[in-house]
Formats: sequence, structure tokens, C-alpha cells
Amino acid sequence: MKISLGADHGGFQLKEFLKRRLSEEGHDILDRGTFDPSPVDYPDIAFRVAQDVFQGSTGILVCGTGIGMCNAASRMEGMIAALCTNEYMARMARLHNDANVLCLGARVIGDELALSVTRVFLETPSLNDEKYVRRREKVARGCQ
Ligand code: RB5
Repeated sequence: MKISLGADHGGFQLKEFLKRRLSEEGHDILDRGTFDPSPVDYPDIAFRVAQDVFQGSTGILVCGTGIGMCNAASRMEGMIAALCTNEYMARMARLHNDANVLCLGARVIGDELALSVTRVFLETPSLNDEKYVRRREKVARGCQ
């Protein structure tokens, strides 16, 4: 799968871990930074990943809590971002919400749990039941 991966300084180490492990598992990783632990603004990284997701990649964004990245990604056209701290949330984010950007908090969960959550997110299809589609469309319209 083509994955666009980005992190701020708070998520840098987890991004490097995920890049290595997901590459070993055969995924095609676009690394959109940050490339060292110096402080950066998470919206700048979220913007880069959003360009790839708009072209069809799945996005993974990591910051300290995952909250800033999730807020940033959710403001951009076509992005359905989900902050997940466990596998159940990752599964539901795909099945019910059709999320295309997984947000992780590197200061909240450990590396191996983050990888497990990511695997579930990548493997789970979206359910296209009428009620889920209707709700997603309302969200896409700004809940109007
Ligand atoms: C950076 O210290 C931290 O604020 C950032 O990584 C993120 O958690 C913001 O939501």
C-alpha cells in the first residue's frame, strides 16, 4: 500500500520506527518529514501528507498526542482523520468513518502498539452501508 507518513518533533522517533517496520512489511512509504528531532510546526507536515492523500495515498500523521495532527488534517479537503489509541478505534475508523488519515500520539502509546493499530487501520476495509455513507456525507458537508 502507498502510505504518506509525517510527524513533528514529538512524533519523529515513532515515525522512524513505523517507516522501518512498514517498509519491511512491503509498504511503499513516502516520508514527508520531519527529518530530525528539532521543533517544527505540525500543520506544515500535515499539509504535505494531505497532498499525497488527496492523490490516493493513505496518510499516517504522528505528533506528541496525535491531537494537533488530527485537528490539522481534518481542516483540509478530502481528509478524514482519526486519532486512534487502540485497535478497536482503528477498525471502527475504517469500517464506520472511512478514515484515510491515521493520527497517532507518540507520547500516548508505545511503538509496538502503534504498529499494531496501524496494521489494523491498513487492513480494514470501509463499510458502505447506506447509513454510514449518509453520515459521512453530512460530515463532509459541514454537518448541514
Ligand atoms: C509538541 O510539543 C506537541 O505540542 C505536538 O507534538 C502535538 O502533541 C500537538 O498536538
